[in-house]
Amino acid sequence: MCGSMRIRCTSRWRTRRCWWTRRPRRWKGRTGREGWHPGVFVAKGKEHLLVTRNLVPGESVYGEKRISIEQPNADPSLPAEKVEYRVWNPFRSKLAAGILGGLDDIHIGPGKKVLYLGAASGTSVSHVADVVGPEGTVYAVEFSHRSGRDLVNMAKKRTNVIPIVEDARHPNKYRMLLSMVDVVFADVAQPDQARIVALNAHHFLKNGGHAVISIKASCIDSTAPAEVVFAAEVKKLQAESFKPREQLTLEPYESPSQVGD
Ligand SMILES: C[S@@+](CC[C@H](N)C(=O)[O-])C[C@H]1O[C@@H](n2cnc3c(N)ncnc32)[C@H](O)[C@@H]1O
Repeated sequence: MCGSMRIRCTSRWRTRRCWWTRRPRRWKGRTGREGWHPGVFVAKGKEHLLVTRNLVPGESVYGEKRISIEQPNADPSLPAEKVEYRVWNPFRSKLAAGILGGLDDIHIGPGKKVLYLGAASGTSVSHVADVVGPEGTVYAVEFSHRSGRDLVNMAKKRTNVIPIVEDARHPNKYRMLLSMVDVVFADVAQPDQARIVALNAHHFLKNGGHAVISIKASCIDSTAPAEVVFAAEVKKLQAESFKPREQLTLEPYESPSQVGD
C-alpha cells in the first residue's frame, strides 16, 4: 500500500476518544498522561491505521498490509528516503488493542528488552520487534512446537527476536538465553498466568521494570463473571508484589479480556 498517507507518532494523540472506534476511551485507574508510545505510529489516510516501522522492508510477516512513505532524510543534504510501515491489526493483537483502547504506557519502546510470554507464531512479536528496533531485543517464549516453527522462521529475518520454544512455567530452562529485561509482556491465556508472570519477573525483570499482562477471563474461569475473574487476578499479582497501575478492557477487539500493567 502506498499513496497519500501521513505517518504520525502516537505521541500526538490529544483526544480522549479512541480514534479507531470513535468511542470514548475506556479508562480505568489513573487518568494522567495522554497516550505516548514511542515506536508506534498512526497512518492517517481514508481510514486511520496503527502501524510499526518495518524492520525488514519489502516483507510482510503474516500477510499484513505495508505502507511505503517518502520521508525527509535525517541528514538534510541527502535525498528523501523511503520508509515502510506494517499495519498492526488490533483484532489480531492484544497489545495493539490495548494501545487503541487507550493504554497509557506499554513500557515497550525503542531499545527496550522485552520478555514476551505466549508468542504463538510471532505475529504480534514481529510488531514488538519493529517497536524496539535494532537496539532492542524481544525474547519470545512459546511452548507449542507447531507455533514455535513459525516463530523461529520469523526470527530468521528479525534478528532482534530470540525465539525460545519452552514452557514459560520453567524459566530455568531458558535463563542462559536471557539478560535482564525492562518489560515482561504476557499473553499465555492460562489459568495460572499470574504465577507464570511472577516466576519470570522474579528471574528476569530489572528493578523498576514493568509487566504488561493480557487476561482472557474465560481462560481463567469460564463460570465466574469476567469482572470477578479480573479482580481475582489483580489480587494474585498484588500478592506477588506487583503494583497494578492501569487496567482496561480490550473490547470491542476481544471478548471479555483486559490488559494492564
Ligand atoms: C493467546 S495465544 C498468544 C497470541 C500471541 N500473543 C499473539 O498476539 O499473536 C497464547 C499462546 O501462549 C502459548 N502458551 C500457553 N501456555 C504457555 C506456556 N506455559 N509456555 C509457553 N507458551 C505458552 C500458547 O501455545 C499460545 O500460542
